[in-house]
Amino acid sequence: MPRGASARRQLRDDIPVARRSVPSRRRAKGVGLRLFVASLLVCSGAVLTVVFVLDQTSQRAQQPEVQERGLPSRPSSDGRLLGHFPYLQADRSELITFSPGIQLHVDAAEALAAMRQAAAADGVDLRLLSGFRSIDLQESIFFDVASERNQTAEERARVSAPPGYSEHSTGYAIDLGDGDAPETNLSVSFEDTWSFRWLQDHAARYHFVLSFPYGNRQGVSYEPWHWRFEGTADALRLFESARRFTRNPL
Ligand code: DAL
Ligand code: ZN
Repeated sequence: MPRGASARRQLRDDIPVARRSVPSRRRAKGVGLRLFVASLLVCSGAVLTVVFVLDQTSQRAQQPEVQERGLPSRPSSDGRLLGHFPYLQADRSELITFSPGIQLHVDAAEALAAMRQAAAADGVDLRLLSGFRSIDLQESIFFDVASERNQTAEERARVSAPPGYSEHSTGYAIDLGDGDAPETNLSVSFEDTWSFRWLQDHAARYHFVLSFPYGNRQGVSYEPWHWRFEGTADALRLFESARRFTRNPL
């Protein structure tokens, strides 16, 4: 039997040149490639995990009030929160003061002025009770009043929208009263006034729509006093989703 280095050389020389190979090195190369791919996968997984966690954290940071105060952490799949659709706050440059302390979107204001004039000509005294509300004001109306009345968010949402979800923040929504029956202000009994009857017959002419009719599919209480303006393409676009829910299911 050949021994030592000369023996190994002899053995090697016994193998034809075409069949000589260095299998151990090739294996080493293959293992190295697999290791590289495996570490690449592990690193990508780690990066994806970090990105996901950061994204979740930033989403939570964007809704601190909503989460802290017992509202659902996520709106429903159609974007509604407790039945209400989301609305951005109107740009201040689009608002004008309609009556002391009450602002409206300029387009809604013009239509309301014309509607009030026509109502007055028919002997009906339409009064504007509320118009544009900032999201900050809506927050106070929703949470502070809920607290004063010991209401849950669900109970409160039947009569008031959470901040960021009120039509009033667009400047296109108005609450109307009857100057001859102020005791019916913001009450279902407003439906028995001449003002409400007049609105039912004429509001469409001025592009005002009752937002929360009796039995509306949003699940918001009947509000005969709350109307929204849909007389421009911008306004129509804003209320596109809500319009599908406004109709009475009957
Ligand atoms: N009262 C209506 C639902 C609002 O708060 O916008
Ligand atoms: Zn209202």
